[in-house]
Amino acid sequence: MINFDFDSVCVLSGAGISAESGVPTFRGGGKSAVWKGMPFDEISSAKMVKENLDEVWEWFDYRRGVLKECEPNKAHKALVKLEKTVDDFLLVTQNVDGLHTRAGSENIIEVHGNINRSRCVVCRKRFQMQSHHVPHDPSKCDECGNKVRPDVVLFGEMLPSGAYERAVEKASGCNLFIVVGTSALVYPAAILPEVAKRNGAYLIEVNPEETPLTAYCDESLRGKAGEIVPDLVSNLIA
Ligand code: APR
Repeated sequence: MINFDFDSVCVLSGAGISAESGVPTFRGGGKSAVWKGMPFDEISSAKMVKENLDEVWEWFDYRRGVLKECEPNKAHKALVKLEKTVDDFLLVTQNVDGLHTRAGSENIIEVHGNINRSRCVVCRKRFQMQSHHVPHDPSKCDECGNKVRPDVVLFGEMLPSGAYERAVEKASGCNLFIVVGTSALVYPAAILPEVAKRNGAYLIEVNPEETPLTAYCDESLRGKAGEIVPDLVSNLIA
């Protein structure tokens, strides 16, 4: 339990925080998301966008359809409560499902983009799609007529410029860093908790399973986000 005053909190969330909302995770639980026999890191790759953009859209439109039935859960909502209580708060999410924003999070960086945004493959104009409207619309850029692609960071691609740098700056300056629902295997996002710890932050992890981060944590709370995060936040702001 924390016995110091913290005034700057940074949170890193992964697919696990949305699991109880019905959004499948990528790893963990002994299975891995596949699409027509293709591992997710192959279908969600820059290479596939070049080779078969229609197939990439089929995968993303399928995921957007699944999201139609998904609502933010108690863990998403608890982080909103924490954000409203702490003066200096930043939520960095690897998730593209938009559930944090729908729950009410405002100070948020979506380091892997958002599944309900697309962008032109040539002029990079961005489009906000109707939430979970399937199939994706527009299919073509209204500026230059070229195809659009999901505005999501795919394997083999860089993070949105500035987003990562802002996240590192926050992580190195916070005194409490909370990691929720990530396998901590995908960089550079997974480096943030290590940056925070190296700069003196108290590091708490919430995950039903151990991860490569567990050994670095001051507390590793074993269990589901929806069950643990609300109590954790209540204790923090009491
Ligand atoms: N509550 C908390 N954590 C959970 C829950 C739950 N209910 N259910 C599963 N988890 C944990 C799993 O134990 C696992 O450690 O969530 C983690 C999910 O890991 P991944 O599926 O690897 O998701 P994530 O860490 O977000 O992946 C990072 O990889 O595929 C890319 O771009 C994609 O953003 C994603 C990135």
